[in-house]
Amino acid sequence: MDWGIQNRLSRMIKPKSGRIVMLAVDHGYFQGPTTGLQDLKSTLDPLLPYADTLMITRGMLRNCVDPNIDVPIMLRVSGGNSVLTELSNEDLTCDMEDAIRLNACGITLSIFVGAEYEHQTLVNLGKLADWGNKHGVPVMAVTAVGRDMARDARFLGLASRMAAEIGAHIVKTYYCEDFKKITAATPVPIVIAGGKKIPEKDALRMAANAVADGAAGVDMGRNIFQSGDPVAMIQAVRSVVHENSPPDKAYQMYQDLSASQK
Ligand code: 5RP
Repeated sequence: MDWGIQNRLSRMIKPKSGRIVMLAVDHGYFQGPTTGLQDLKSTLDPLLPYADTLMITRGMLRNCVDPNIDVPIMLRVSGGNSVLTELSNEDLTCDMEDAIRLNACGITLSIFVGAEYEHQTLVNLGKLADWGNKHGVPVMAVTAVGRDMARDARFLGLASRMAAEIGAHIVKTYYCEDFKKITAATPVPIVIAGGKKIPEKDALRMAANAVADGAAGVDMGRNIFQSGDPVAMIQAVRSVVHENSPPDKAYQMYQDLSASQK
């Protein structure tokens, strides 16, 4: 692999553990003011010291994040539709020169496999991979599947493998039953999204199962920033991802940190 791509990957996926806790706060690109992110700066500032990478759009990066941080940026460069319309009709919404200007460590887009605009999102992944390979910037593909398709190992595995085939350097997908089948067939690092907010203990168990089944870590949003105590939660997630803490121990850590920070 090209030195620049490998070096940027190793700033995000920590070489010591081979794992990553990416914090996703890009939800507003199609959802607008998502619960917990209305005042993005206030939510983010206390979480940043615990994030290995921040997934964000260029607008929020410029307006809400201090450029003096040392957290690598995974820049979302796709969009084009809101929750009110056909989500799969995504295109590239950020010029690659701007990604460089923002010192992005990685660039990311969604692919919608089995959805109406599957073709254009996959072709856009190919374009980003070409650009990323030329300039040494890794590309992360976020796998979405068609509205009526189950988020299971068959369809997420299909989307994840296709993303790697087309050139993604990292794949973001969802945890599901038989997740090992997805990691076994996808020869690039996989991170899981957290999905909708669930109880902290369940989210920690999901992260633990994902890394045990071969994920490189998480790219988690709502289960951190919508948690009862986001700062305690991200630290508990870190202990699962980087130290293989069992979920019960990590949940105890969450409760202890939460109690001590009150
Ligand atoms: C949406 C995204 C989001 O960043 C991601 O899904 C959010 O993470 P979470 O599900 O943990 O809130 O990529 O396409």
